[in-house]
Amino acid sequence: MLPQIELEEFVIRRKLHRLRHSTLLTDANILLTHAPKVYYAPHNTLPYVTINTTTHRRMAYAMRVGVLTGGGDCPGLNAVIRAVVRKGILHYDDEFVGFLEGWRGVLENKTMVLDYDSISGILPRGGTILRTSRTNPAKRDGGLQRCMETLKHNNLDALIAIGGDDTNSVAQKLFEQGINVVGVPKTIDNDLSGTDFCFGFDTAVNTAMEAIDRVHTTAEAHQRVMVVEVMGRDAGWIAMYSGIAGGADVVLIPEKPFDVEEVAERIRLRHARGRYFSVIVVAEGAKFASDVDPSQGAPVVTEMGKDEFGHVRLGGVGQILAREVERRTGLETRYVVLGHIQRGGSPSAFDRVLASRYGIGAIDMVHRGEFGCMVALRGNDIVSVPLTEAINKNRLVDRALVDVALGLSEPLKNEKK
Ligand code: F6P
Repeated sequence: MLPQIELEEFVIRRKLHRLRHSTLLTDANILLTHAPKVYYAPHNTLPYVTINTTTHRRMAYAMRVGVLTGGGDCPGLNAVIRAVVRKGILHYDDEFVGFLEGWRGVLENKTMVLDYDSISGILPRGGTILRTSRTNPAKRDGGLQRCMETLKHNNLDALIAIGGDDTNSVAQKLFEQGINVVGVPKTIDNDLSGTDFCFGFDTAVNTAMEAIDRVHTTAEAHQRVMVVEVMGRDAGWIAMYSGIAGGADVVLIPEKPFDVEEVAERIRLRHARGRYFSVIVVAEGAKFASDVDPSQGAPVVTEMGKDEFGHVRLGGVGQILAREVERRTGLETRYVVLGHIQRGGSPSAFDRVLASRYGIGAIDMVHRGEFGCMVALRGNDIVSVPLTEAINKNRLVDRALVDVALGLSEPLKNEKK
């Protein structure tokens, strides 16, 4: 939460903190006069700060900044790294240290040079040149302390953590210990709160949509029902967007446990109307509704073991659903699991632009001293939100989007207007 007065405080804090930077000291007053305005704008009742991405040379002073990518890989990670490093080097004379394999790199001081040459040609590349992991320092003995020692050892002024809620939750813990951290929202699942879109989501949706288009042709040719299982652990954004874009007949998401008999009935009604094939899109985290309480259900998992952030490995809902739909409708039903195909490949134009905007926003936030915050997209504005806002809960698919999917699919008898 950054009320109006804090910008001035940032400058003063930086003034004390960066005594060796005489430019900042001498220009502190000019900086205050020219500083970008801080707005207190209600959006979902939470305040945010607009980011002025204009470069003021007067504000520029060199910093040493660490960068890491954590959690599942995602198209656009390299585009963020590139934007951070380019603007940092070209406009602020910054130096960068790349930490390898997410928080593991910070725990173990595994680094790589992140200079102008090392980011050359990475914009269209999927994955991340920094590699990634699901390492959680908070789960290791003295892990956070070791992270802080590494940052000190590398003489860093700030750290940019690019990741989802898990990565940013560690960033918040370090911020609480006094580390200057800025977060960047990443997940193909698009379920991070505080931002309207995460980069990587658009690419994943396009990959899934293309797969649904391909599956459609086989479904039609063989008069089958095809079930397409897409990613989406807690939220069904990929299922909803790709399902609507790909013309799926039924879309199932984690937010609403589904009754398999209702799914079968929608397919029966559609076929009774003369259609001879159907496509169902199901998110990996979608749940079969419990008989006792239909608003509840448990996701299908492939492994019960949990990772360091407490996540089980999901998968298999598509297979069970296909079997049940075939049994109940008598229609031949097959399934495909898109899995990591959705996370791979070159980022879409939208994701390249969004990732670049996030990268620029993040390095500018570092230079404005907006720590403990995450760069975010609200409407079409790049803004800064507290990390706590991003990590406290998942952003779920909204009712309006669910209504679009329902409006496009066969209504059950009790749903007819
Ligand atoms: O990054 C989010 C996500 O893609 C989820 O949709 C999925 O459940 C999970 O990652 C899979 O992660 P991993 O590749 O580590 O198994």
